[in-house]
Amino acid sequence: MSPFDFRPRTRILFGAGEFARVGEIAREVGGTRCLLVADRGMVDAGYAQEAIRSLKARRMEVFAFHEFDASPTTSVIEAGRAFSATLDINLIVGLGGGSSLDCAKAINFVLTNGGSVRDYWGYGKASRPLLPMIAIPTTAGTGSEAQTYAIVVDEDTRVPMACGDGKAAFRVAILDPKLTVTQPAALTAATGYDAISHAIETLVSTRRNALSECFSREAWRLLNSSFERVLENGSDLDARAAMLLGSHFGGLAVEYSMLGAAHACANPLTAGYRIPHGVAVSLLLSHVVKWNSAVAGEQYDELHSGNLEQRLRELAEAADLPLSLREASVPEQALPRLAEQASAQWSGRFNPRPFDAAAALEIYQCAY
Ligand SMILES: [Fe+2]
Repeated sequence: MSPFDFRPRTRILFGAGEFARVGEIAREVGGTRCLLVADRGMVDAGYAQEAIRSLKARRMEVFAFHEFDASPTTSVIEAGRAFSATLDINLIVGLGGGSSLDCAKAINFVLTNGGSVRDYWGYGKASRPLLPMIAIPTTAGTGSEAQTYAIVVDEDTRVPMACGDGKAAFRVAILDPKLTVTQPAALTAATGYDAISHAIETLVSTRRNALSECFSREAWRLLNSSFERVLENGSDLDARAAMLLGSHFGGLAVEYSMLGAAHACANPLTAGYRIPHGVAVSLLLSHVVKWNSAVAGEQYDELHSGNLEQRLRELAEAADLPLSLREASVPEQALPRLAEQASAQWSGRFNPRPFDAAAALEIYQCAY
């Protein structure tokens, strides 16, 4: 069995209504001057205002940064740094989907350690401590609140940079399923499928260990049993809770065991054709499972008593996701170029079956 060093760094508060405690929790971690990083959708939904009320009720100074949408870029992070530089912030609260949480981490890097966010591409580049952070996810998908990586897109090259550091772990994650009920169906579908892919890819990755396998399996159990329920009825709070916790466990599994070929093949589709991450992963996952079966078939069988590949297709159909690259308007002649790009992705290195450009092309062709 592989050795591991597991250090829980994030307190997890899970339950409907826990969001209201953000002010109290912020005080507990020593905050008095808080930067709230929440995308514009959080303002429209009223969640940003709710957070501000709870924080102010605990006599907290709050400064809100909302100037971003999906996928934070280098210039967004610079704008966040410039906005907060003179405010004497001692706490950051990230509220929203994966983008808000990644944005909170990335602003923290440059605010406390200086330079540009590009300086933190890779792992362990911060030499000084970061400010304490609280994560409040409002989508069940990335599990970013469980991870020490921030994904930031380089404005010049469009390359997504994974900037990670153990110091960037959230101090507290507040998992309140009530916040995910307002998610539109398409977002529930794409982010939910992304969470499912985290459970599947981490389970068989070459970096997996006995503990990450627990998270992968429990993530799958929760997500597989609740995904169709949230698709049918978005206000089913029990199902939403299972999705949120499942995506958190999936995020933890990724933190400790990395990903695989489905993510490696998905990233060039997102960069080149702006296919949302969860949709891109959904186009590939069942094909990767089939391709990996020669080496990981036993683990897949153990995870799911029926045919896993078939089950993954069923879930994509239930979510009304496109079922082929053709349907997603990817031109067939682009596949060899995309395969080259996929083979250069970091996550492909952890796939159980050795993965290269020829492998990526085979997977894309099956998915076409
Ligand atoms: Fe993902």
